[in-house]
Amino acid sequence: MDLEAQRAAAGEQAAQLVQDGMVIGYGTGRAATAALEALARRKVRVRGVPTSQKTVQTCQRLGLALVDLDDHPRLDLVIDGADEVDPRAQLIKGGGGAHVREKLVALASARIVIVVEEMKLVERLGSTRGVPIEVVAFGWTGTLQRIAKLLPGAARREGPLSDSGGVLVDAPLPAGADLREVARALKAITGVVDHGLFLDFAPTVIVGGPSGARVFSGG
Ligand code: A5P
Repeated sequence: MDLEAQRAAAGEQAAQLVQDGMVIGYGTGRAATAALEALARRKVRVRGVPTSQKTVQTCQRLGLALVDLDDHPRLDLVIDGADEVDPRAQLIKGGGGAHVREKLVALASARIVIVVEEMKLVERLGSTRGVPIEVVAFGWTGTLQRIAKLLPGAARREGPLSDSGGVLVDAPLPAGADLREVARALKAITGVVDHGLFLDFAPTVIVGGPSGARVFSGG
């Protein structure tokens, strides 16, 4: 089963959790898109808050109704992807640069459903990539230097700014780092908007693997 099929299997199972009339969060990325495609096929009445401009386009293509987070500050659930999931269902997100909006939507959601392929399951967060960080564009070089003092090797990501006009940075997570402490220290740096560590969100993780999708119970 290839990765696309794994994402489709996970997305299909996630879409089944959406009930008629729900207001949800629409995630960003390939796995989230697979879930949105499955949702559109179900033809339930659903409205949702998109987590990126790319997702706005996906929803317009699929005919999924869009609403604003400020008009709907409480969402029934969000379906989103992740870059890494550890055995306790702690996450790294933001490979697509949408983690700030994704975190705001996750915080608004009564239930968080994460769809991933098997290869996203890791023993330790930071083992396949660094943690994405969005910083305010004004003065970003100084902010990056302060981040690099905390997480040596932090570097600006090549490519466009975030949807909100922020600069994207990726920073390696040293083995054995206290994740909650890293999260707290990053948030304390002036100029950091937010990072892609999603800790203690208690998501339902649906994993697409070679023999279909299963719910991963972290803990
Ligand atoms: C977007 O910023 C990310 O948080 C995505 O949810 C994450 O990168 C997973 O994307 P894929 O499903 O495309 O790997």
